[in-house]
Amino acid sequence: MAKLTILPANVSAEVPDGENLIEAGETAGVEMEAGCFNCSCGTCVAEVVSGMENLSDPTDEELDVLDQWNKDPEKFRLTCCNRILKGEVVLRAGH
Ligand code: FES
Repeated sequence: MAKLTILPANVSAEVPDGENLIEAGETAGVEMEAGCFNCSCGTCVAEVVSGMENLSDPTDEELDVLDQWNKDPEKFRLTCCNRILKGEVVLRAGH
């Protein structure tokens, strides 16, 4: 199992390894902001406070959207197109 914590609400959920971040966030009880669910609009961007190494690697598509939003991919990810592979990840929701 993996663990996702979402700030500033500071709520956590244990989820199966490989769970999509939006679904994991909803398991934690947070309504995750999202639009396209398809890695193209950028609405779902969130700051990764810790555990970046436990997320799936970004696709070129995700990197392009983060660039459009002027978000550093070493600190921000799109939650709709990312999975928590293992371990613990802490996100700060909102822009
Ligand atoms: S919801 Fe559109 S990029 Fe994630």
